[in-house]
Amino acid sequence: MTHVLAIANQKGGVGKTTTAVNLAASLAAAEQRTLLIDGDPQGNATSGIGLAKETLEATVYDLLIGDANATDARHRSVQFTHLDVIAATPDLAGAEVELISRHRRDQAMRDALAPIAREYDYVLIDCPPSLGLITINMLAAADALLIPVQCEYYALEGLSQLLNTVHLVQQNVNELLSIDGVLLTMFDGRLNLSRQVAADAREYFGPKVYSNVIPRNVRLAEAPSFGKPIILYDVTSAGALAYMAVAREMLDRHRSAVTAAERRASAGGRSAQAGRERGATADTRGREELSSGPERSAEF
Ligand SMILES: Nc1ncnc2c1ncn2[C@@H]1O[C@H](COP(=O)(O)OP(=O)(O)OP(=O)(O)O)[C@@H](O)[C@H]1O
Ligand SMILES: [Mg+2]
Repeated sequence: MTHVLAIANQKGGVGKTTTAVNLAASLAAAEQRTLLIDGDPQGNATSGIGLAKETLEATVYDLLIGDANATDARHRSVQFTHLDVIAATPDLAGAEVELISRHRRDQAMRDALAPIAREYDYVLIDCPPSLGLITINMLAAADALLIPVQCEYYALEGLSQLLNTVHLVQQNVNELLSIDGVLLTMFDGRLNLSRQVAADAREYFGPKVYSNVIPRNVRLAEAPSFGKPIILYDVTSAGALAYMAVAREMLDRHRSAVTAAERRASAGGRSAQAGRERGATADTRGREELSSGPERSAEF
């Protein structure tokens, strides 16, 4: 099953790109087929994952404008066998204006991604720090939103605006868009402020907040200048361990959601068949599902 996650928060510098790059790398290292899409004209995810601007031919801009297709635009096996990347350059900013007059202007990314999305277990989209047409396109293409929240002053301010945008996208383009979760970033357990922001986020978003938090860690800030995700730059750093833990938590969450959905479907199927087939086959299948639990293929 494919999970298309937009990593978004219109607040700047909260750790969107750091999360997109390092979560994508961690998932790919766990042998999840992963596509990282740089949806930001700043191109930070592109350089952070080690793609040089000179080597880029087709980018997200070309996808949105319809000058390239996703199959041609993707870079295969970037740093990891299971990691593909679609890059961005500053010309992506132009798409914001160029798309305005186009038919299905808010669904260009969704249309472009459709032919290849199901080849992946995870598609992670790094969004720009705005709620403009590019972000709308990324949200329209996504199944769910992952919101990095920096453990700093005013962290939760502006989130209602983000949630309003999510609501608009749900109403107009993508009714299935959901909130995957909230990830606390740049956490410093020694600071009251960090602990307070974490507590507020957990109170507001409840279990949507990932249990694992990303600590403030200088190695995470250094890694992009070497064009490396943290697990290739310093795998023993606190930042690397945290992103691997978040990837593991995400896999566990998604697997148990799938198992629960299958169990519901199987229970529904059983009651529909009750009295006709005496439930023998479905019961056996249900017991097998309950006893097998979430499968684990990922080891970090
Ligand atoms: N956990 C962390 N510890 C230390 N530094 C971090 C951490 N996460 C991110 N940074 C640094 O903070 C800065 C902002 O992070 P990042 O670029 O990921 O945020 P962003 O939300 O993508 O920013 P923008 O809104 O500009 O796209 C970067 O210099 C990054 O290296
Ligand atoms: Mg960014």
